[in-house]
Amino acid sequence: MTTSGSPGSTGPVTSADSPAPAATVAPEPAATSPAADATSAEPLLSASGLHVTFPGRHGAAPARAVDGVDLDIKPGEIVALVGESGCGKTTLARSLLGLVPPTSGRITFGGRPLDYSARGLKKYRKRVQLVLQDPSGSLNPRHTVYDAVAEGLRIHGYPGDERAAVADALARAGLRPPERFFLRYPHELSGGQRQRVVIAGALVLDPELIVADEPVASLDASVRGEILALLLRLRTELGLAALVVTHDLGLAWNIADRVAVMYLGRIVETGDVEQILTAPRHPYTQALLSVLPEAGGDEIVLTGEPPDPSRVPRGCRFHARCQVLAGGEAERVGVADACRTRDLPVLDGGGASQVACHWAEALGASAR
Ligand SMILES: Nc1ncnc2c1ncn2[C@@H]1O[C@H](COP(=O)(O)OP(=O)(O)O)[C@@H](O)[C@H]1O
Ligand code: SF4
Ligand SMILES: [Mg+2]
Repeated sequence: MTTSGSPGSTGPVTSADSPAPAATVAPEPAATSPAADATSAEPLLSASGLHVTFPGRHGAAPARAVDGVDLDIKPGEIVALVGESGCGKTTLARSLLGLVPPTSGRITFGGRPLDYSARGLKKYRKRVQLVLQDPSGSLNPRHTVYDAVAEGLRIHGYPGDERAAVADALARAGLRPPERFFLRYPHELSGGQRQRVVIAGALVLDPELIVADEPVASLDASVRGEILALLLRLRTELGLAALVVTHDLGLAWNIADRVAVMYLGRIVETGDVEQILTAPRHPYTQALLSVLPEAGGDEIVLTGEPPDPSRVPRGCRFHARCQVLAGGEAERVGVADACRTRDLPVLDGGGASQVACHWAEALGASAR
């Protein structure tokens, strides 16, 4: 299995003066996307004050996997949710899909609170589809491509022409001519083709939003770019919004309009992809970016324990690992005590650029 990708492996869609490599394979710049018109639109999906806490086993403290998240996704917008493994991305994504009920907070879709009844969730899952990270795991090896894609139609009692709908979804996912794939089995396909079948299975229900959890993590670098280009094309052609969950900031670069950086259950920085990737303000975002091959500067190696959601520290939740605090820069602007003791507010879920960091706030204030 291939591990993380990079902007270099798939090609950036950012402008030429960003610190990304010159090769560009993605189909078009974000500036011409429908999301550009969506900046003032009402959010399609919105989470506010979301908490998901798992009970601790054998007397252990509960795990605050999602610990106060506000997040809006507008029609046609592609938001990348990034952060290290274990920071709560999958739990947040599953909660947005109604698969994990929030411990507190709420989720609305199209302005209405999610209906957690079996019927309500079935209806919801037609409009918001999940694309999983491992296409071989999410396809039944004994089902043909046709049956895999038709499954959703059957669950939802699709009244139209099933064969035409399956063919259309496969074609939209780039499997052409679709009929050639109908009777194939997953093991007869390449990894990229299997991921396209999974995407076709999501598209067949005409969703308004897809949630893709690490959609290309298990693919070779050569096909990763194709799948990302497909997701971008679906947004352009169908106005599909997407939440793309990834541990890889390089991937976000290739696809997202907006990035939300998650650390230990919270979003710690969010904003336009260009701004986050060229001028990150949160020390954690800066550290994540520093390890990309294109970053150029010194790699920032994070010290300290990996985050544990059953032991969220007081003050800034990143303080035990923060290079800015450890290096004395927080002290120099007079916020070191605040870093250790003063919690930071939950960031607003909308598109504005925001950061949850005492030091970045202090620098911003002195620059104003
Ligand atoms: N069902 C569960 N029960 C208990 N803890 C869980 C459960 N699911 C996830 N967690 C914990 O929540 C944290 C976040 O996990 P996850 O959402 O999978 O993170 P990510 O997708 O960012 O890797 C982890 O510490 C994980 O161990
Ligand atoms: S608030 Fe302080 S400890 Fe937290 S990220 Fe900012 S500088 Fe580092
Ligand atoms: Mg995950």
